[in-house]
Amino acid sequence: MVDAPSYPWSSGVPEPGDFDRPSSARVYDFLLGGTSHGAVDRVLGRDLMRAEPLVESIARENRSFLRRAVTFLAHAGIDQFLDLGSGIPTMGNTHEVARRVRPDARVAYVDIDPVAVAHGELLLGPGTRGVSVTHADLRHPEAVLAAPSVTEVLDLDRPVAVLMFSVLQHVPDADDPAGVVAGYLSRTVPGSALAVSHFSGDDPRVDSEAIRRLTHAYPGGTATPRSGAELAAIIGDVELVEPGLVYAAQWRPENRRHQGPLDTACCGHRAAVGFVRG
Ligand SMILES: C[S@@+](CC[C@H](N)C(=O)[O-])C[C@H]1O[C@@H](n2cnc3c(N)ncnc32)[C@H](O)[C@@H]1O
Repeated sequence: MVDAPSYPWSSGVPEPGDFDRPSSARVYDFLLGGTSHGAVDRVLGRDLMRAEPLVESIARENRSFLRRAVTFLAHAGIDQFLDLGSGIPTMGNTHEVARRVRPDARVAYVDIDPVAVAHGELLLGPGTRGVSVTHADLRHPEAVLAAPSVTEVLDLDRPVAVLMFSVLQHVPDADDPAGVVAGYLSRTVPGSALAVSHFSGDDPRVDSEAIRRLTHAYPGGTATPRSGAELAAIIGDVELVEPGLVYAAQWRPENRRHQGPLDTACCGHRAAVGFVRG
């Protein structure tokens, strides 16, 4: 893990310079068909689409996994969610999905991108109780879990689901992604859960190297696609629920089409959901 930052937790007020370089949050918004991105994000988004035409399906499928994983966890009894690298609000945000099952569900969103945070605050407004948005770097678990906007929403003496959807590829090996995940899970009580998706480096259907190369323009640096084995090592000793660590489309699909062999399910992210061992 990297050293904790010395700056105080700020609200996500974007500075003009924040728009000079493409950001993962805004490019992802572009790929999902959203409207919260700028010209530099569209340029990179289109480059990604040219380099790997599956990139939009990959983003949509990840979003669909988010919905199924959060719904599953809410049905399993979880009513608190820490959504790390939550991105720009789009259709089916975590609190909306969770509250279909548990109307009292509480959600703390965290993102490093000030534009994503500002949009989150705008969406929620002052009237959405039990939900907060925090501008923070998830690589500092202790500081994130102590942030007032997180502690005012989540009671860490009760089970919480730690959500890391399509974000750990933005944590390079040098920043110890396994240590980051453990840094959150070790501060949760038994019954807590982890849901994770991660952009794959070894999916034969996807040119992950082209995507990796193009993401060098992100402020946080080039993304790190990882293999299934590497992701399993990062997750550590979590008790995974069926079907284990699989491609996102294969995780408890609602569409029978995806229950078939690998090549009928697209692609890109591996995903898993599990519970912290007591
Ligand atoms: C590809 S988007 C995924 C958004 C959302 N989790 C989803 O799956 O739909 C990755 C998000 O992670 C955020 N992110 C990247 N590095 C981060 C970090 N170190 N701390 C917090 N957020 C981070 C980006 O700003 C972006 O919003």
